[in-house]
Amino acid sequence: MKPIIKILIVNGSPKGEYSLTLQHSLYMLGQEKDVEYKVLQASEALSKINFEQSWLESAITDIEWADAIIWNTPVYTMLVPWQLIRLFQLIKAEGRNSIFQGKYATSMMTCFHYYDHLAEDWLRSTSEDLGMAYVEGRTADNMDMLIKTHRASMRFFMNDFVSACRNRDPVERKFMPLPETKSPRFSPALINESREANPKLAEPKLRTVLLTDEIHQDGNLSRMLDVFMDAYPHEIEVIDINEFPYEAGCHGCLKCELVGECDRKDGFQDFYLNLVNTCDVLVFGMNIEDRYLKPIWKLFLDRTFSNGHRTSMMGKHTGYLVAGPLRSLPNVRQFLEGKDNVGRENAMCIIGDEYEDSVYLESLIINSAKRLSQAALAKYQKSVNFLGVGGIKIFRDLIYSMRGVVGDDHRFYKKNGLYDFPQKDLGKQAFNLGMGMAFKLKAVRMEAFERMPEMYIQLHKQILKSGKE
Ligand SMILES: Cc1cc2nc3c(=O)[nH]c(=O)nc-3n(C[C@H](O)[C@H](O)[C@H](O)COP(=O)(O)O)c2cc1C
Repeated sequence: MKPIIKILIVNGSPKGEYSLTLQHSLYMLGQEKDVEYKVLQASEALSKINFEQSWLESAITDIEWADAIIWNTPVYTMLVPWQLIRLFQLIKAEGRNSIFQGKYATSMMTCFHYYDHLAEDWLRSTSEDLGMAYVEGRTADNMDMLIKTHRASMRFFMNDFVSACRNRDPVERKFMPLPETKSPRFSPALINESREANPKLAEPKLRTVLLTDEIHQDGNLSRMLDVFMDAYPHEIEVIDINEFPYEAGCHGCLKCELVGECDRKDGFQDFYLNLVNTCDVLVFGMNIEDRYLKPIWKLFLDRTFSNGHRTSMMGKHTGYLVAGPLRSLPNVRQFLEGKDNVGRENAMCIIGDEYEDSVYLESLIINSAKRLSQAALAKYQKSVNFLGVGGIKIFRDLIYSMRGVVGDDHRFYKKNGLYDFPQKDLGKQAFNLGMGMAFKLKAVRMEAFERMPEMYIQLHKQILKSGKE
């Protein structure tokens, strides 16, 4: 008989035993011989702001018991749910990070593949930082497990993982550790010379709100925000996101999608809707912690899900000031850019604090504050790249296929022309029908080959010639 491998499924889904993801991990482990496993309902236990300290102690005992861990989690807001981040944060605060050292880990995630790579990268890099050997995980859509061939691959995956744990196979480390040095202290002249604040414009009005996790403290972020607020030509309303009286994290109940109301009764849904519906410009002040932003941001962002898939900042403008090792965390930047791109938010700057030269950083912030105002007044629309085009197509297909259930999202997608399926374009359909027939003839294809470069830009040339606006 082979030695028993003890595996802990850490369930990152706040839905607990009703988690779709959990069914996957249970199925795979149920097929394995010579394993013993337990489930730790981490996100369910850590959803409420107040949690039981005795629960944390027994969670630590469970982790110590295991040879290997399966991070079983849905993707929430392009990462894992806040509750799972909180588990790591609480164990770190207890000074118990060493409990993970030397264990094997992998992940099982379910989602709609919207930025699921960021979630797995975060889990992997966090596991690697803790000295774990992370084996590439699996991600499934909600119906995948119902397919026989998919289940065969799931069984292979788990068998392979258990065998890696049993044989202590070597595993590739994917991420560099984070730098130990902090960003240089930002010392702007604005603060050194205590200049008078620049007067603000009464007109034109741009309702501008700053959402931040730090303000007027002795930190780079506070100093960056002071410079920004001084240079920005309009009044800025400051909201410290730590101060909202959150009742709990999002627990994925989908009451917001089905009934329209958030299940949490702390007023967050009204607060957030009112904010995004009335502001023209949102500025974010964010501190990085470990490999993401401060966890309070994840609590905040998960709760914004109560607005469904309606891109509430569409056509508006944003700016991000970030303190911490942003250059070592390209995924944090990608998260911000992706959020901006999909939401058509027009982020006019994402500025980190890793500059040796405070004068340079100061002028960058001052310049960006002015550009943000100018872009918002001009209603400048940024172009989108793969992050936005890809993301919005995932949502488009999801909302369309669920339109009977997610009526509010469906109406929003229709109203905003986001249902851009190629099969709905009658002109293109007629074109392809005609071309499909004509292209059967080689002579036509030769003619197209010869004339293609010129024809491809024919209409663009006409615009150039006419000098049209
Ligand atoms: C608050 C919230 C945020 C979500 N964000 C994402 C996301 O960013 N990407 C994605 O692909 N799916 C997202 N989803 C969908 C869930 O990942 C998906 O429904 C998952 O299968 C739920 O798994 P569970 O039943 O184990 O909790 C989100 C769902 C909720 C409730």
